[in-house]
Amino acid sequence: MEYRRLGKSGLQLSALSFGSWVTFHKQIEDNTADELMGIAYDQGINFFDNAEIYARGESEKMMGRVLRRKNWDRSSYVVSSKVFFGWRGPENKPNQTGLSRKHVTEACHEALQRLGLDYLDLYFCHRPDKNTPVEEVVWTMNVLIRQGKILYWGTSEWSGVEILEAQRVADRHHLIGPTMEQPEYNLFQRQKMEKEYLGLFREMGLGTTTWSPLASGLLTGKYNNGIPEGSRLAIGGFAWLKDRLITEDYIQKVRRLSEYANSLQTNTATLAIAWCLKNPNVSSVIMGASRKEQLQENLKSLDLVLSLTPEVMGEIDKIVQTKPVQPEY
Ligand SMILES: NC(=O)c1ccc[n+]([C@@H]2O[C@H](COP(=O)([O-])OP(=O)(O)OC[C@H]3O[C@@H](n4cnc5c(N)ncnc54)[C@H](OP(=O)(O)O)[C@@H]3O)[C@@H](O)[C@H]2O)c1
Repeated sequence: MEYRRLGKSGLQLSALSFGSWVTFHKQIEDNTADELMGIAYDQGINFFDNAEIYARGESEKMMGRVLRRKNWDRSSYVVSSKVFFGWRGPENKPNQTGLSRKHVTEACHEALQRLGLDYLDLYFCHRPDKNTPVEEVVWTMNVLIRQGKILYWGTSEWSGVEILEAQRVADRHHLIGPTMEQPEYNLFQRQKMEKEYLGLFREMGLGTTTWSPLASGLLTGKYNNGIPEGSRLAIGGFAWLKDRLITEDYIQKVRRLSEYANSLQTNTATLAIAWCLKNPNVSSVIMGASRKEQLQENLKSLDLVLSLTPEVMGEIDKIVQTKPVQPEY
């Protein structure tokens, strides 16, 4: 395993990490979660990602049960949670979502309880909250750090301007600003990582834990000829994701990518994850898996990174045609 510093912080994360969105509780039960986290940990993965909204809190409870069973040394792994969406779904009342001091504090306490932990290593604001002043968010996160309930705080899917604003508030009050952002990053979603945040990487030393490296499985090629039973896009309630991902343009590109991957003696999923790892501004690529074979296959991407020469990266760009255009000045 390769370890990377989380931006300019002293924390080291495994370059590949493991998350529980969709899979934990919805697709897999405790024994499979135990097996997957065990494989991940044995292969050197030290970061496990979670959120209050995942399976409405059940994902954190499942991860908590696995961690208790595994009894790994607490200092050997990093766990995250994220706050914003709440966990009660349609029953969420005012103050049970968002980034107010009340919800951020209560959500932290609840996540700790569900995970059975004394502190969260990473705590993310899952989305920006237009109804809460950024000062309130920065101060709340700093209080939680001082109380020892979280170690690092960050954002997820915030704009570059919003992250910079949070950093400015922190600087003004001698507080700790956001250490990391969690954006979507894959061959079809590149704008934030390759354009919008470039100044933040340079000026702030922002770290990143990136999500959906396979665009929910699209970049494995598994949807090239329809939607296989048991796959994510076949699950009830995910029609919105299917509409977003199953387009003629994407499928054509993945087909060509699959051919190119074969010509390199690898497969589409391994190539797509290795491509994410190749970006030095990525601190950790969070993977998802519903089966151990997927995880084992995806771990092979670490060995492929060195083969991604400028020529190979150029060929990939020609196929996907998603490289953000940089300003000429
Ligand atoms: N901050 C945010 O807003 C946010 C949003 C989304 C995710 N995340 C985090 O990022 C993590 C990863 O996201 P993701 O699950 O969307 O990642 P992903 O890598 O894009 O998709 C993972 C899914 O693809 C399928 N898959 C994976 N490897 C495969 C393989 N080798 N062959 C065939 N199918 C394969 C599996 O689904 P099936 O077997 O069901 O088809 C698996 O659950 C999440 O768990 C979560 O922690 C964060």
